[in-house]
Amino acid sequence: MKKLIPIFVSCALLCGCGRRIAADGEIAVVPCPESVVAGPGVFVLKASTCVRVLADGMADALQALDEALTPVFGQALAVETGAEACPGTVNIACDPAMPAEAYRLAVTPERIDITGGSVHGAFYAVQTLRQLIPLEAYTAGDVRAVEIPAVEIADKPCLAYRGAMLDAARHFFTVDEVKTMIDILALHKMNVFHWHLTDDQGWRIEIKKYPRLTGIGSVRRRTLIGKDPGGEYDASCRYDETPHGGYYTQDEIRDVVAYAAARSVTVIPEIEFPGHAVAALASYPWLGCTGEQYEVRQTWDIDDRVFCIGRESTFEFIEGVLDEVVELFPSEYIHIGGDECPTVMWERCPACRARMKAEGLKRPRQLQNYATARVEKFLNAHGRRLIGWDEILEGDVMPTATIMSWRGTEGGVRAARQGNQVIMSPAEYCYFDYYQSEDREAEPLAWGGYVSVEKAYALDPYAGLTPAQRSCVLGVQANLWTEYIPTFSQAEYMLLPRLSALAETGWSLDRKDYPDYVRRVRRLAGLYDVCGYDYARHIFR
Ligand code: ACM
Ligand code: ZN
Repeated sequence: MKKLIPIFVSCALLCGCGRRIAADGEIAVVPCPESVVAGPGVFVLKASTCVRVLADGMADALQALDEALTPVFGQALAVETGAEACPGTVNIACDPAMPAEAYRLAVTPERIDITGGSVHGAFYAVQTLRQLIPLEAYTAGDVRAVEIPAVEIADKPCLAYRGAMLDAARHFFTVDEVKTMIDILALHKMNVFHWHLTDDQGWRIEIKKYPRLTGIGSVRRRTLIGKDPGGEYDASCRYDETPHGGYYTQDEIRDVVAYAAARSVTVIPEIEFPGHAVAALASYPWLGCTGEQYEVRQTWDIDDRVFCIGRESTFEFIEGVLDEVVELFPSEYIHIGGDECPTVMWERCPACRARMKAEGLKRPRQLQNYATARVEKFLNAHGRRLIGWDEILEGDVMPTATIMSWRGTEGGVRAARQGNQVIMSPAEYCYFDYYQSEDREAEPLAWGGYVSVEKAYALDPYAGLTPAQRSCVLGVQANLWTEYIPTFSQAEYMLLPRLSALAETGWSLDRKDYPDYVRRVRRLAGLYDVCGYDYARHIFR
């Protein structure tokens, strides 16, 4: 967690004095809860208030409460266990009859009751409670007590999958930065961190069987800067000549996965196959169709140099990589990319042509279907399920694959109509590497496009689907590609507040109301300030 908040050791702890911070303004929670009924009065939460835990397995919710309140009081609240809720305390209970992610949060002048369908629900109740704490409490110093407005909130998410992707390949982000991203997701009750770990410009995950992937493939010699996306790669291009690199060791990955799990976030890794492969081919030239030695790519866009599908050694390789990936990531889903894979190398490659003949494939594109089906079989044999970008729909996709629809919602609609599971992530609503205001001159260079907060909010993941087909839509996802995002503070700036708009589609789809969201997100921005997150402040002017 980012530690930018001043931690004041309350003098209330030492001498019993200190300030009481009044409740601030109206109740404003993002994403919008299912039901909010304000009550009379406030609960006075004190440094001396006890937390009473009434169920097993609530440690992560308790930890979240500690992280929320320690910056206020300079210490965590005392904790006791018990069979029954008590007045004067914050009670944390579990009601397994509720959906796992559902919660109730009841604040009265007598006490606070948190009830989760599981620890996840209780964790989300704490995230809501964070938005009820007066913002002044975080900065006032010497706080003895804070007023929490009385309210009864009953809440649960509309969609099961609420994700965001960080591209750590185009630019590397440290483990601490990745953890901050997970904190940001947790604040918004998002539950999937999609970690884009391999691409043409860098391989970022340690694979013990193939050490050159990180020894060679994790560093590019230089980086293209300042080019207008879509423009030519010519002599006018400028480069930052500093080598750019970095990768996550397997221990670091385990640490991130555990950190996320404690925040009700599942980490889904993405290993790109069969395209976006240049960093892998630079590490092991025998993975490509020609065996040529390449450099890790220094520019952007789509690259023709992809994994050779004709050679068995390619499949030995990807299975060796995935063997280690499934050990590291307990997620049900593994993302294998599958986007933007040109076939030109395959068309010229004797091994790929021989594969087409042997398998009775009529078009080179079907080599991708063949390769994806093999990888899916491997993942299924390891008890996992495959996610791919919507390009895997071209040709014959397996009915068991999950489609991440990014080129509009059309791929997702097609997939849902044929019974595949879908995650809606259409670029025109969900690509937060696009500009977020019309005044491009006032913004840092971005990929192009324009996704305003209002546009991000407007996504309807069910458009074009019958009620039966809607059940195929698992959820929604934001994507942060980082070609033009070299620092994590810029990543925060691009994510926030748009991520809150997408979070509301995922959590509150059946109760979206843009003007009301605008009222609530203004208050959430105050919490961004408290947490030290960068965000697009000008959106609020
Ligand atoms: C993608 O944006 N190429 C999935
Ligand atoms: Zn080939």
